[in-house]
Amino acid sequence: MTDPTPSAGFTPPPYPYDRLDALKPLADAHEGGIVDLSVGTPCDPPPDAVVQVLASSAAERGYPASVGSPAYREAAAGWMARRLGVELAPQQLAACIGTKELVAGMPHWLRLRDPSRDTVLYPAISYPSYAMGAELAGARAVAVPVGPDGRSDLGAVEPSDAARALCLWVNSPANPTGELDDLAAAAEWGRAHAVPVLSDECYVEFTWDGPGRTILEHGTEGVLAVHSLSKRSNLAGVRAGFYAGDADLVHYLSELRKHAGFMVPGPVQAAAVAAWADQAHVDDQRERYRARLARAAEVLRAIGVEVALPAGGFYLWAPAPEGDAWALVRRLATEGGALVSPGEFYGPDGAAFVRVAVVQPDDRLELVAHRLGVA
Ligand SMILES: Cc1ncc(COP(=O)(O)O)c(C=O)c1O
Repeated sequence: MTDPTPSAGFTPPPYPYDRLDALKPLADAHEGGIVDLSVGTPCDPPPDAVVQVLASSAAERGYPASVGSPAYREAAAGWMARRLGVELAPQQLAACIGTKELVAGMPHWLRLRDPSRDTVLYPAISYPSYAMGAELAGARAVAVPVGPDGRSDLGAVEPSDAARALCLWVNSPANPTGELDDLAAAAEWGRAHAVPVLSDECYVEFTWDGPGRTILEHGTEGVLAVHSLSKRSNLAGVRAGFYAGDADLVHYLSELRKHAGFMVPGPVQAAAVAAWADQAHVDDQRERYRARLARAAEVLRAIGVEVALPAGGFYLWAPAPEGDAWALVRRLATEGGALVSPGEFYGPDGAAFVRVAVVQPDDRLELVAHRLGVA
């Protein structure tokens, strides 16, 4: 018997934001310290009533339902109906522990379902976890070009890649660009190519250009919408989300996830019910982000960065002067004490941009403006 060939193993790739560590001391050297506008982590409070439920649900003792309690699924479905105009049956919706784990895990599970496929299609400028999910599953990540209108250019997908595709990711409003994709076209493309379309809609409440939209408006067959309380309700710390749409796909995924022990904790499920039911706190949050986006854009323009307001989301996607994103990142750290992300974190096509997340209180943004000499 021969020894098995030693495996090269898997070296974890660097976490994108860790690459900003060297710049942090530059920003932190300012009096008042660093103003971190890099990671899209909410800073504003969730509703008190929701936090109260976390401590008083009495849902700690038993195991929570992996698929989500009936109340959790009803509350999420009720929100979809009210806000996005789509009625779902309970078996069309299941819980996830925030959505990042779902995004990163999906290629692996879809591959088990159809081992003949090995490719994840995702927008060329996007949240890094779509491509990372492919990498973690040993699958191929193939970027779909994003057109000048910010939409996925599905006509550019090679037929050979479509034939191998486990899924197509779309993200609208998009992180980092704030663009709105053509969700009807994505659903149609997926059905025509027998590729599940996964529509990450976690910024839908922060749609500025018209009403919020979901892919499920265009039917549920072969598509899933993915939603989260992290951004909507400033609850990134409790980890609550859901996926909804094609009943067969929801059944398959939720059964698999039950075997693997993916469960939103009971108190979190109870709190999520309260969060999905309340819209007033979201309206308040929309106004906060709208004002911060406008102010941050004004400050950037005053220092020569010609940035447009996004159609959705809470990021500014700013073209760097002379296309040198790292120079702008460094300048904002050195002169403004602010940390922002270079666009290459979201794919090579984004390399000439920086992303500014308006996730700091107004007085902190004003501090950056002051340091930059902007009135
Ligand atoms: C586009 C997009 N999808 C998903 C997530 C994950 O959010 P969560 O896991 O908190 O639901 C994020 C977080 O930044 C995001 O920007």
